[in-house]
Amino acid sequence: MAVDVSIYQQMLLNNEKWVAEKIEKEPSYFEDLAKGQSPKFLWIGCSDSRVPAEEVTGAKPGEVFVHRNIANLVVHTDLNLLSVLQYAVQVLHVQHIIVCGHYGCGGVISSMKNTDFGLVNKWLWNIKEIYFKYREELDAIKDEKKRADRLVELNVREQVYNLAETSFVQKAWVKRELSIHGWVFDLKSGKIKDLDVLVDDPKTLHPIFQYNLED
Ligand code: CO
Repeated sequence: MAVDVSIYQQMLLNNEKWVAEKIEKEPSYFEDLAKGQSPKFLWIGCSDSRVPAEEVTGAKPGEVFVHRNIANLVVHTDLNLLSVLQYAVQVLHVQHIIVCGHYGCGGVISSMKNTDFGLVNKWLWNIKEIYFKYREELDAIKDEKKRADRLVELNVREQVYNLAETSFVQKAWVKRELSIHGWVFDLKSGKIKDLDVLVDDPKTLHPIFQYNLED
């Protein structure tokens, strides 16, 4: 299949139009934007093209620090995620971390299959582990779609706790307030569901996950 050059060129044209519109409304827009960022939110979302952090929350450039990967996972050996997290928490001092999954997530659905996806198996294994942990609840849901939707929610919940179980987050809690939230975006309605897994205290964690960071 030939590459469609016109859609690629269109993106650059769209950028020119966007710049012109911004400057028309606010002549110093880009001058101000270039001065620096102080976002209050860190967004950890899925790479899925249908769930752009700013677009679905009405946020503007400069307001949300974003990390996206397949199925919005927080993996403790992922240098990319950990670097984003450390910078967001220790340098930018974000006040809220939002893990946002979405129903119909291809990553979550794929993790429920036995297909060999090659390298991606390693990533999806993290979700298989969550399925295994909640297998009694999930196996009891006969409707496949509903079962996948529930796994999407459980996956978000687990990632919230994975964040809380990092020393970066616990270190921040010693000094100040930092809340972690679990959300699910519904592609069919556009609405975000807050799973109410607000975590803002190390005491909510099992002692084995609590680091000694008092000094
Ligand atoms: Co997804």
